[in-house]
Amino acid sequence: MKLKALAAIGLLCAGAQLSAKTLNVDIDIHADQTGPVINKDVYGQFAEHLGRGIYEGVWVGEDSAIPNTRGFRTDVLEALRAIKVPLVRWPGGCFADEYHWREGIGPREDRPTKVNTHWGGVEEPNSFGTHEFFEFVELLGADAYVNGNLGSGTVKEMAEWVEYMTGDKGSTLANERRANGREEPFDIAYFGIGNEAWGCGGNMRPEYYADLYRQYATFLKTPQGKRPKFVASGGHTEDTSWTDVLSKNIDSNIDGISYHFYTLPNSDWDEKGRAIKFSEQEWFKTMERTYRMEKYIRANVAKLDENDPEGNIGLYVDEWGTWYDPEPERDPGFLYQQNTLRDAVVAAVNFNIFHQHAERVTMTNIAQMVNVLQAMILTDKEKMVLTPTYYTYGMYKVFQDATSIKFNLKTDKYKRGDKTVPGVTASVARGTDGKLYLALVNLDPSNSADIDLDVAGANVTRAVGQILTADAMDTRNTFDAPETIAPTAFESDLDDLTIPAKSVVVVELK
Ligand code: AHR
Repeated sequence: MKLKALAAIGLLCAGAQLSAKTLNVDIDIHADQTGPVINKDVYGQFAEHLGRGIYEGVWVGEDSAIPNTRGFRTDVLEALRAIKVPLVRWPGGCFADEYHWREGIGPREDRPTKVNTHWGGVEEPNSFGTHEFFEFVELLGADAYVNGNLGSGTVKEMAEWVEYMTGDKGSTLANERRANGREEPFDIAYFGIGNEAWGCGGNMRPEYYADLYRQYATFLKTPQGKRPKFVASGGHTEDTSWTDVLSKNIDSNIDGISYHFYTLPNSDWDEKGRAIKFSEQEWFKTMERTYRMEKYIRANVAKLDENDPEGNIGLYVDEWGTWYDPEPERDPGFLYQQNTLRDAVVAAVNFNIFHQHAERVTMTNIAQMVNVLQAMILTDKEKMVLTPTYYTYGMYKVFQDATSIKFNLKTDKYKRGDKTVPGVTASVARGTDGKLYLALVNLDPSNSADIDLDVAGANVTRAVGQILTADAMDTRNTFDAPETIAPTAFESDLDDLTIPAKSVVVVELK
């Protein structure tokens, strides 16, 4: 440490400008002090019937000229497998409360065509239904999070869907599933009872929804050992009343309360801000908005700590990510947006926040997986590009089911006007492979960060891993230039650790 401080003074003398433009960060790691496990489901994804999120993005059908595996795009499957997607939420979102599961089973040619009234008013062919969803997650090696329709459905419809999926006896519903090609019951990891009940899911008050939830959950029966985690639809943004009311009024059949928070650069739903070609002011506002996640999670967790001191109820951030203005030439109902280095930084900032709250935040889903909002993957017919967000998921996969390690972090701020966010945030954990991992993200787009690292309880001298960064804030991959940004190797002595401006770094400490 001392040597490093001396080196910094040397730099100051040699070039005050360079030193003045460096953020100073102190991190003390206690490698022998462990915290909670970071549930792999924190890295879950959301796939809704919205725009080209499912149709074209995931499902093209067996007869498509686009290379596919039983109707699923092979390129997308391979890319998602590479980042180890642990969990997929489906069919919505707002779409879930308009979805009637019976329309998506049986021979595809017999399924009714509906209109997706929530997203773009397009025809919904129902070709991707229950069986296709489970086949998709099984091909990925992921778990299933199914979101039920409370808003426009009935208790009977929801209960029958659960029985259709999980029944193991000779009931008519289980036999119908068998007749449709699936002998063994499907495994559901999480089941959501409605979505955004405060808005598109029915414009309810939390007290009313809590009663409905209790009623619906009573009738969702599964064979022993097959019960999914039940998710109550909670609040969003700075509001904690849903978490409060639901955790006070629902005392059984509940495993988690959902929470949604989106990163809109301008915090204004009418003028959200642009996905590309933005100013540094917009970059800052994006960071400032996304970092509010920390405060909001803390406030919701405080409510849970009051009402559920035993820690039975998780806080599931099952929708989060950037949401920009639609691109001018695209259907605004499709929520298609480009994805840049800024999105990668946003993802890493959020991962580091989720890890700090690993005890309660045991599941999250970024919105959304392909072609919608902060996507991993963008497609244009047969073409596919991997986004900077995709690469951040890839770099952070070592944190899935890792054991968090205690650390203290002091950092210079990234400041504009009278507002600040931390210059650097971090995560430290011991992976399931026994290795010690450090993740760092520099939120400042202009200034590099000097990391003064002190590691107690482990004999480590080197940082070896990957970095994602670029010169321009809106560096992105496009269909014409799909390899403009990707992670590169990163290696440094620990007593000389510096990370560049606007970068995401994940390293093993060895
Ligand atoms: O992710 C897009 C939409 O955002 C979801 O359908 C809805 O739940 C939320 O408002």
